[in-house]
Amino acid sequence: MTSFPTTRMRRTRSQPWARDLVRQNQLAPSDLIWPIFVHEGSEIEAVTSMPGVNRLPLSEVAGAARTARDLGLPAIALFPKIDDAKKDVSGSEAANPDNLVCRAIHELKSAVPEIGVMADVALDPFTNTGQDGLLVDGKIDNDQTLDLLVAQSLVQVGAGCDIIAPSDMMDGRIGHIRNALENGGHTDTLIMSYAAKYASAFYGPFRDAVGSSGSLTGDKKTYQMDPANGDEALREVALDIEEGADMVMIKPGQPYLDIVMRVKQRFGMPTFAYQVSGEYAMIRAAGDQGWIDTDAVMLESLLAFKRAGCDGVLSYFAPRAAELLQST
Ligand code: PBG
Repeated sequence: MTSFPTTRMRRTRSQPWARDLVRQNQLAPSDLIWPIFVHEGSEIEAVTSMPGVNRLPLSEVAGAARTARDLGLPAIALFPKIDDAKKDVSGSEAANPDNLVCRAIHELKSAVPEIGVMADVALDPFTNTGQDGLLVDGKIDNDQTLDLLVAQSLVQVGAGCDIIAPSDMMDGRIGHIRNALENGGHTDTLIMSYAAKYASAFYGPFRDAVGSSGSLTGDKKTYQMDPANGDEALREVALDIEEGADMVMIKPGQPYLDIVMRVKQRFGMPTFAYQVSGEYAMIRAAGDQGWIDTDAVMLESLLAFKRAGCDGVLSYFAPRAAELLQST
Protein backbone atom coordinates (compact mmCIF):
# COMPACT_ATOMS: atom_id res chain seq x y z
CA MET A 1 0.00 0.00 0.00
CA THR A 2 1.20 3.43 -0.79
CA SER A 3 0.90 5.98 1.94
CA PHE A 4 -2.57 7.48 1.68
CA PRO A 5 -3.41 11.08 2.38
CA THR A 6 -5.76 11.39 5.31
CA THR A 7 -6.57 14.92 4.34
CA ARG A 8 -8.27 15.22 1.00
CA MET A 9 -9.39 18.81 0.59
CA ARG A 10 -11.62 17.80 -2.28
CA ARG A 11 -14.02 15.76 -0.09
CA THR A 12 -15.96 18.84 1.02
CA ARG A 13 -16.11 20.06 -2.56
CA SER A 14 -17.23 16.80 -4.11
CA GLN A 15 -21.01 17.31 -4.07
CA PRO A 16 -23.25 20.37 -4.19
CA TRP A 17 -24.73 19.48 -0.76
CA ALA A 18 -21.27 19.28 0.77
CA ARG A 19 -20.29 22.62 -0.71
CA ASP A 20 -23.53 24.13 0.61
CA LEU A 21 -22.84 22.68 4.03
CA VAL A 22 -19.36 24.11 4.47
CA ARG A 23 -19.95 27.47 2.76
CA GLN A 24 -18.86 30.25 5.12
CA ASN A 25 -20.28 33.32 3.44
CA GLN A 26 -23.51 34.05 1.63
CA LEU A 27 -24.61 37.02 -0.34
CA ALA A 28 -28.21 38.17 0.01
CA PRO A 29 -30.17 41.14 -1.35
CA SER A 30 -30.29 42.43 2.24
CA ASP A 31 -26.51 42.99 2.06
CA LEU A 32 -26.82 45.55 -0.70
CA ILE A 33 -27.33 49.30 -0.81
CA TRP A 34 -28.34 50.68 -4.20
CA PRO A 35 -26.86 54.05 -5.20
CA ILE A 36 -29.08 56.01 -7.61
CA PHE A 37 -28.56 59.27 -9.48
CA VAL A 38 -31.25 61.91 -9.81
CA HIS A 39 -31.27 65.00 -11.97
CA GLU A 40 -33.44 68.04 -12.50
CA GLY A 41 -34.62 67.20 -16.03
CA SER A 42 -37.75 65.28 -16.92
CA GLU A 43 -36.22 62.40 -18.88
CA ILE A 44 -34.29 59.27 -17.94
CA GLU A 45 -30.68 59.95 -18.97
CA ALA A 46 -28.05 57.30 -19.53
CA VAL A 47 -24.71 57.77 -17.77
CA THR A 48 -22.31 57.13 -20.65
CA SER A 49 -19.37 55.89 -18.59
CA MET A 50 -21.63 53.52 -16.59
CA PRO A 51 -23.59 51.39 -19.06
CA GLY A 52 -26.92 50.34 -17.55
CA VAL A 53 -26.95 53.17 -14.99
CA ASN A 54 -29.26 56.14 -15.46
CA ARG A 55 -29.92 59.52 -14.00
CA LEU A 56 -33.55 59.54 -12.97
CA PRO A 57 -35.95 62.45 -13.06
CA LEU A 58 -37.86 63.00 -9.81
CA SER A 59 -40.93 61.37 -11.34
CA GLU A 60 -39.07 58.02 -11.54
CA VAL A 61 -37.76 58.01 -7.99
CA ALA A 62 -40.84 56.41 -6.44
CA GLY A 63 -40.56 53.62 -9.01
CA ALA A 64 -36.98 52.96 -7.95
CA ALA A 65 -38.11 52.70 -4.33
CA ARG A 66 -40.72 50.10 -5.29
CA THR A 67 -38.13 48.18 -7.30
CA ALA A 68 -35.81 48.14 -4.30
CA ARG A 69 -38.60 46.91 -2.02
CA ASP A 70 -39.66 44.17 -4.46
CA LEU A 71 -36.07 42.98 -4.77
CA GLY A 72 -35.47 42.95 -1.02
CA LEU A 73 -32.89 45.74 -1.08
CA PRO A 74 -32.93 47.43 2.34
CA ALA A 75 -31.66 50.87 1.36
CA ILE A 76 -31.09 53.36 -1.43
CA ALA A 77 -28.29 55.95 -1.52
CA LEU A 78 -29.05 59.18 -3.37
CA PHE A 79 -26.73 61.29 -5.53
CA PRO A 80 -27.86 64.44 -7.31
CA LYS A 81 -26.82 66.12 -10.53
CA ILE A 82 -27.99 69.66 -10.20
CA ASP A 83 -28.04 72.38 -12.86
CA ASP A 84 -24.77 74.28 -13.23
CA ALA A 85 -26.62 77.57 -12.72
CA LYS A 86 -27.28 76.57 -9.09
CA LYS A 87 -23.63 75.91 -8.26
CA ASP A 88 -21.39 78.33 -6.39
CA VAL A 89 -18.13 78.21 -4.49
CA SER A 90 -19.73 77.29 -1.16
CA GLY A 91 -22.26 74.86 -2.61
CA SER A 92 -25.06 76.85 -0.99
CA GLU A 93 -27.74 74.84 -2.81
CA ALA A 94 -26.74 71.90 -0.58
CA ALA A 95 -28.46 73.63 2.35
CA ASN A 96 -31.64 74.49 0.48
CA PRO A 97 -34.42 72.46 2.14
CA ASP A 98 -36.18 72.26 -1.21
CA ASN A 99 -33.17 71.10 -3.25
CA LEU A 100 -33.16 68.08 -5.54
CA VAL A 101 -31.86 65.65 -2.92
CA CYS A 102 -34.46 66.70 -0.38
CA ARG A 103 -37.26 66.35 -2.91
CA ALA A 104 -35.94 62.93 -3.91
CA ILE A 105 -35.74 61.82 -0.26
CA HIS A 106 -39.32 62.89 0.16
CA GLU A 107 -40.41 60.98 -2.95
CA LEU A 108 -38.64 57.81 -1.78
CA LYS A 109 -40.01 57.92 1.75
CA SER A 110 -43.56 58.70 0.62
CA ALA A 111 -43.56 55.88 -1.93
CA VAL A 112 -41.99 53.21 0.29
CA PRO A 113 -41.59 54.31 3.92
CA GLU A 114 -40.00 51.00 4.94
CA ILE A 115 -36.93 51.51 2.74
CA GLY A 116 -33.85 53.11 4.30
CA VAL A 117 -32.81 56.29 2.56
CA MET A 118 -29.19 57.35 2.70
CA ALA A 119 -27.90 60.70 1.47
CA ASP A 120 -24.35 61.79 0.83
CA VAL A 121 -22.95 64.72 2.75
CA ALA A 122 -20.29 66.52 0.71
CA LEU A 123 -20.47 69.68 -1.30
CA ASP A 124 -19.11 68.43 -4.64
CA PRO A 125 -22.40 68.08 -6.55
CA PHE A 126 -23.17 71.68 -5.51
CA THR A 127 -19.86 73.57 -5.85
CA ASN A 128 -18.64 75.20 -9.05
CA THR A 129 -15.16 73.94 -8.12
CA GLY A 130 -16.22 70.29 -8.02
CA GLN A 131 -14.57 70.14 -4.58
CA ASP A 132 -16.20 68.52 -1.55
CA GLY A 133 -15.38 71.52 0.64
CA LEU A 134 -15.15 75.29 0.55
CA LEU A 135 -12.21 76.55 -1.47
CA VAL A 136 -10.59 79.60 0.16
CA ASP A 137 -7.40 81.07 -1.35
CA GLY A 138 -6.71 77.86 -3.22
CA LYS A 139 -7.18 75.62 -0.17
CA ILE A 140 -10.09 73.60 1.16
CA ASP A 141 -10.98 75.24 4.47
CA ASN A 142 -11.74 72.41 6.87
CA ASP A 143 -13.55 74.23 9.66
CA GLN A 144 -15.67 76.53 7.53
CA THR A 145 -16.71 73.48 5.52
CA LEU A 146 -17.94 71.75 8.69
CA ASP A 147 -20.71 74.31 9.18
CA LEU A 148 -21.86 73.88 5.59
CA LEU A 149 -21.92 70.10 6.03
CA VAL A 150 -24.02 70.44 9.16
CA ALA A 151 -26.50 72.63 7.30
CA GLN A 152 -26.61 70.08 4.47
CA SER A 153 -27.18 67.22 6.91
CA LEU A 154 -29.99 69.00 8.70
CA VAL A 155 -32.01 69.73 5.55
CA GLN A 156 -31.63 66.12 4.47
CA VAL A 157 -32.80 64.82 7.82
CA GLY A 158 -35.64 67.32 7.73
CA ALA A 159 -36.72 65.81 4.40
CA GLY A 160 -36.84 62.33 5.95
CA CYS A 161 -33.36 60.94 5.35
CA ASP A 162 -32.60 57.92 7.57
CA ILE A 163 -28.83 57.63 7.09
CA ILE A 164 -26.49 60.58 6.78
CA ALA A 165 -23.37 59.57 4.89
CA PRO A 166 -20.54 62.11 5.07
CA SER A 167 -18.18 61.46 2.15
CA ASP A 168 -16.14 64.65 2.28
CA MET A 169 -13.23 63.54 4.51
CA MET A 170 -12.99 66.82 6.46
CA ASP A 171 -11.53 66.37 9.94
CA GLY A 172 -14.08 66.43 12.74
CA ARG A 173 -17.16 66.22 10.54
CA ILE A 174 -18.73 63.22 12.20
CA GLY A 175 -18.58 64.84 15.64
CA HIS A 176 -19.89 68.12 14.32
CA ILE A 177 -22.81 66.49 12.52
CA ARG A 178 -23.60 64.13 15.39
CA ASN A 179 -23.76 67.08 17.78
CA ALA A 180 -26.07 69.01 15.51
CA LEU A 181 -28.34 65.98 15.09
CA GLU A 182 -28.54 65.40 18.84
CA ASN A 183 -29.19 69.08 19.54
CA GLY A 184 -31.88 69.09 16.88
CA GLY A 185 -33.63 66.11 18.46
CA HIS A 186 -32.66 63.76 15.61
CA THR A 187 -31.41 61.11 17.95
CA ASP A 188 -32.41 58.18 15.72
CA THR A 189 -30.65 59.32 12.56
CA LEU A 190 -27.88 56.93 11.57
CA ILE A 191 -24.49 58.08 10.38
CA MET A 192 -22.57 55.93 7.94
CA SER A 193 -19.17 57.51 7.71
CA TYR A 194 -17.11 57.27 4.57
CA ALA A 195 -14.35 56.72 7.10
CA ALA A 196 -11.50 55.49 4.94
CA LYS A 197 -11.98 57.16 1.61
CA TYR A 198 -9.05 57.23 -0.75
CA ALA A 199 -8.11 59.79 -3.40
CA SER A 200 -8.90 57.36 -6.16
CA ALA A 201 -9.00 57.38 -9.93
CA PHE A 202 -11.84 54.85 -9.69
CA TYR A 203 -14.36 57.68 -9.09
CA GLY A 204 -14.15 59.00 -12.66
CA PRO A 205 -17.49 57.72 -13.97
CA PHE A 206 -19.29 58.94 -10.81
CA ARG A 207 -18.01 62.46 -11.40
CA ASP A 208 -19.48 62.28 -14.91
CA ALA A 209 -22.77 61.07 -13.44
CA VAL A 210 -23.14 63.96 -10.99
CA GLY A 211 -21.62 66.46 -13.40
CA SER A 212 -18.66 67.47 -11.25
CA SER A 213 -15.84 66.20 -13.47
CA GLY A 214 -15.87 69.12 -15.91
CA SER A 215 -15.58 71.72 -13.20
CA LEU A 216 -13.17 69.93 -10.86
CA THR A 217 -10.24 72.18 -10.19
CA GLY A 218 -7.18 70.30 -8.99
CA ASP A 219 -7.59 67.05 -7.11
CA LYS A 220 -8.82 65.88 -3.71
CA LYS A 221 -5.51 64.71 -2.29
CA THR A 222 -5.46 67.20 0.59
CA TYR A 223 -8.46 65.48 2.17
CA GLN A 224 -8.96 62.04 0.64
CA MET A 225 -6.41 59.40 1.66
CA ASP A 226 -3.23 58.38 -0.10
CA PRO A 227 -3.75 54.93 -1.71
CA ALA A 228 -0.30 53.99 -0.43
CA ASN A 229 -1.42 54.07 3.22
CA GLY A 230 -3.10 51.43 5.36
CA ASP A 231 -2.47 52.36 9.01
CA GLU A 232 -3.96 55.80 8.52
CA ALA A 233 -7.28 54.16 7.61
CA LEU A 234 -7.45 52.66 11.09
CA ARG A 235 -6.90 56.08 12.67
CA GLU A 236 -9.59 57.60 10.48
CA VAL A 237 -12.04 54.86 11.43
CA ALA A 238 -11.19 55.11 15.14
CA LEU A 239 -11.86 58.85 15.13
CA ASP A 240 -15.17 58.51 13.31
CA ILE A 241 -16.36 55.87 15.78
CA GLU A 242 -15.33 58.08 18.68
CA GLU A 243 -17.16 61.02 17.10
CA GLY A 244 -20.39 59.07 16.78
CA ALA A 245 -20.53 57.07 13.55
CA ASP A 246 -22.89 54.05 13.66
CA MET A 247 -21.42 52.37 10.60
CA VAL A 248 -18.17 52.81 8.74
CA MET A 249 -17.33 52.51 5.08
CA ILE A 250 -14.21 51.84 3.06
CA LYS A 251 -14.00 53.23 -0.45
CA PRO A 252 -13.18 52.18 -3.16
CA GLY A 253 -13.96 48.52 -2.57
CA GLN A 254 -12.19 45.71 -4.31
CA PRO A 255 -8.69 47.26 -4.46
CA TYR A 256 -8.98 47.99 -0.71
CA LEU A 257 -10.15 44.66 0.72
CA ASP A 258 -7.06 44.59 2.94
CA ILE A 259 -8.40 47.73 4.63
CA VAL A 260 -11.87 46.21 4.99
CA MET A 261 -10.40 43.20 6.74
CA ARG A 262 -8.23 45.22 9.10
CA VAL A 263 -11.09 47.57 10.00
CA LYS A 264 -13.53 44.75 10.66
CA GLN A 265 -11.03 42.81 12.76
CA ARG A 266 -9.90 45.83 14.76
CA PHE A 267 -13.23 47.51 15.48
CA GLY A 268 -16.00 44.97 14.95
CA MET A 269 -18.23 47.79 13.72
CA PRO A 270 -20.91 47.43 11.06
CA THR A 271 -18.56 47.70 8.10
CA PHE A 272 -19.39 48.55 4.53
CA ALA A 273 -17.51 48.96 1.28
CA TYR A 274 -18.41 50.98 -1.76
CA GLN A 275 -17.93 49.15 -5.05
CA VAL A 276 -17.43 52.44 -6.84
CA SER A 277 -18.26 53.65 -10.31
CA GLY A 278 -14.92 52.69 -11.85
CA GLU A 279 -15.18 49.15 -10.51
CA TYR A 280 -18.68 48.91 -11.97
CA ALA A 281 -17.54 50.33 -15.30
CA MET A 282 -14.64 47.88 -15.60
CA ILE A 283 -16.80 44.82 -14.99
CA ARG A 284 -19.52 46.07 -17.31
CA ALA A 285 -17.12 47.05 -20.06
CA ALA A 286 -15.36 43.70 -20.12
CA GLY A 287 -18.70 41.92 -19.89
CA ASP A 288 -20.20 43.95 -22.72
CA GLN A 289 -17.20 42.97 -24.89
CA GLY A 290 -17.90 39.32 -24.14
CA TRP A 291 -14.56 38.99 -22.36
CA ILE A 292 -15.99 38.02 -18.98
CA ASP A 293 -19.38 36.83 -17.71
CA THR A 294 -20.77 40.02 -16.14
CA ASP A 295 -23.27 38.32 -13.83
CA ALA A 296 -20.82 35.74 -12.54
CA VAL A 297 -18.01 38.25 -12.01
CA MET A 298 -20.39 40.66 -10.28
CA LEU A 299 -21.65 38.06 -7.83
CA GLU A 300 -18.13 36.84 -7.13
CA SER A 301 -16.90 40.39 -6.53
CA LEU A 302 -19.78 41.07 -4.11
CA LEU A 303 -19.22 37.81 -2.24
CA ALA A 304 -15.54 38.72 -1.87
CA PHE A 305 -16.57 41.82 0.09
CA LYS A 306 -18.43 39.64 2.55
CA ARG A 307 -15.53 37.24 2.91
CA ALA A 308 -13.25 40.19 3.67
CA GLY A 309 -15.57 41.20 6.50
CA CYS A 310 -18.18 43.54 5.06
CA ASP A 311 -21.67 43.52 6.50
CA GLY A 312 -22.93 45.20 3.37
CA VAL A 313 -21.88 46.71 0.08
CA LEU A 314 -22.92 49.75 -1.92
CA SER A 315 -23.08 48.66 -5.52
CA TYR A 316 -24.57 49.88 -8.78
CA PHE A 317 -25.13 46.18 -9.47
CA ALA A 318 -27.52 45.93 -6.51
CA PRO A 319 -30.77 45.47 -8.47
CA ARG A 320 -29.26 42.98 -10.93
CA ALA A 321 -27.51 41.07 -8.17
CA ALA A 322 -30.71 40.92 -6.11
CA GLU A 323 -32.62 39.64 -9.12
CA LEU A 324 -30.08 36.86 -9.62
CA LEU A 325 -30.01 36.01 -5.92
CA GLN A 326 -33.79 35.86 -5.72
CA SER A 327 -34.02 33.39 -8.59
CA THR A 328 -31.50 30.94 -7.13
C1 PBG B 1 -18.62 62.70 -3.30
C2 PBG B 1 -18.59 61.27 -3.64
C3 PBG B 1 -17.80 60.63 -4.59
C4 PBG B 1 -18.23 59.31 -4.62
C5 PBG B 1 -19.25 59.18 -3.67
N1 PBG B 1 -19.44 60.40 -3.07
C6 PBG B 1 -16.77 61.13 -5.52
C7 PBG B 1 -15.58 61.84 -5.03
O1 PBG B 1 -15.27 61.83 -3.85
O2 PBG B 1 -14.94 62.46 -5.88
C8 PBG B 1 -17.71 58.26 -5.56
C9 PBG B 1 -18.64 57.12 -5.83
C10 PBG B 1 -18.31 56.34 -7.04
O3 PBG B 1 -17.27 56.52 -7.72
O4 PBG B 1 -19.13 55.46 -7.36
N2 PBG B 1 -17.75 63.15 -2.37
